[in-house]
Amino acid sequence: MEISKRLLLKSHLKERPRDEKKLGFGDIFTDHMFKMDYYDGAWRLPRIEPNSPLSLSPAAMVLHYSQTIFEGLKCYRHPDGRLALFRPRENFKRFNQSARRMCIPQVDEAFMLQALKELLRVDGDWTPSAPGSSLYVRPTIIATEPHLGVRPSKEYLLFVILSPVGAYYKEGFGPIKIHVEGFYTRSAPGGLGSVKAGASYAGSLLATDQAARKGFSQLLWLDSQEHRFVEEVGSMNMFFVIDGKIVTPKLGGTILPGVTRFSVLDVAGDLGLEVQERNLDIREIIEAQNSGRLNEAFGSGTAAIISPVGTLSYDGNEFTVSDGQVGPITQKLYDELVGIQYGHRPDKRGWVEYLD
Ligand SMILES: Cc1ncc(COP(=O)(O)O)c(C=O)c1O
Repeated sequence: MEISKRLLLKSHLKERPRDEKKLGFGDIFTDHMFKMDYYDGAWRLPRIEPNSPLSLSPAAMVLHYSQTIFEGLKCYRHPDGRLALFRPRENFKRFNQSARRMCIPQVDEAFMLQALKELLRVDGDWTPSAPGSSLYVRPTIIATEPHLGVRPSKEYLLFVILSPVGAYYKEGFGPIKIHVEGFYTRSAPGGLGSVKAGASYAGSLLATDQAARKGFSQLLWLDSQEHRFVEEVGSMNMFFVIDGKIVTPKLGGTILPGVTRFSVLDVAGDLGLEVQERNLDIREIIEAQNSGRLNEAFGSGTAAIISPVGTLSYDGNEFTVSDGQVGPITQKLYDELVGIQYGHRPDKRGWVEYLD
């Protein structure tokens, strides 16, 4: 499919962020966006247009029944100035897995990557170069058919927007405080936990907001049946280092199969670290902490890459992990992954996809 373009005149382009060190996360958007419509059984009219508000019927099904999915990946500026995407094919694969679960039509993954590269050829010069900064890519699909009966929509809009970003957490790569949620749950077996559906995130807001008011950056969700087994953090998969071994909850349909999670597992293996994917009881973690065997804890995700956990609060008690410092294994994994993403370390696995 040919991608048509309607671009802004140079004189109408937005002013670029003045200070790349103060970008924050997800507040600034580039000049253009990619769009494509689905109707009469096919994706049509792929195009790049100015980033502007959408026009939707108030009866658009997404507004009523949340039939929407999204993805999140990043474009990095390498020291030689080239733009590099990190494992974008994995994101478009997951986009289709999410689409299947939400009754949204499949997209052509190779075409989506081509469309993203085309958008980056237009707006890629928004990619910042300050350490820790990048251009966040947000592909999204929404159900647009004006209809109030509950069933899958017959019409959709797919769009991709770009946002220059800095650190996700105010702490940067500093240790964050996490509250272990003992009442609310994020997902249940058979539910939406393993896909990126907006509805899962809406359901997580109340508990996350309550924790934020108490000073916690994120929640650690437990399983929905016994409130015992560790699942994941708001936008990160979780890892613990117990007795020198890396332990992470296994994928079972209730947590997101993070691209960063897979990358951490590969890098950890290469570094000769032992990794276990298994059920992980929160009481095992507390016990390990009390007996001095919990060495480190960290989360992984596109937004923050690797985020060390300095404090865990569970059942009214607060535990300081790794003396509130960044542990050596967390640091090693961070250095290797971030090194590959930013082009400072060799990309032995072919994870980096250059624009040209
Ligand atoms: C709920 C949840 N878990 C985990 C992750 C980490 O996934 P990834 O490493 O693909 O960004 C994310 C972020 O995308 C997320 O939203």
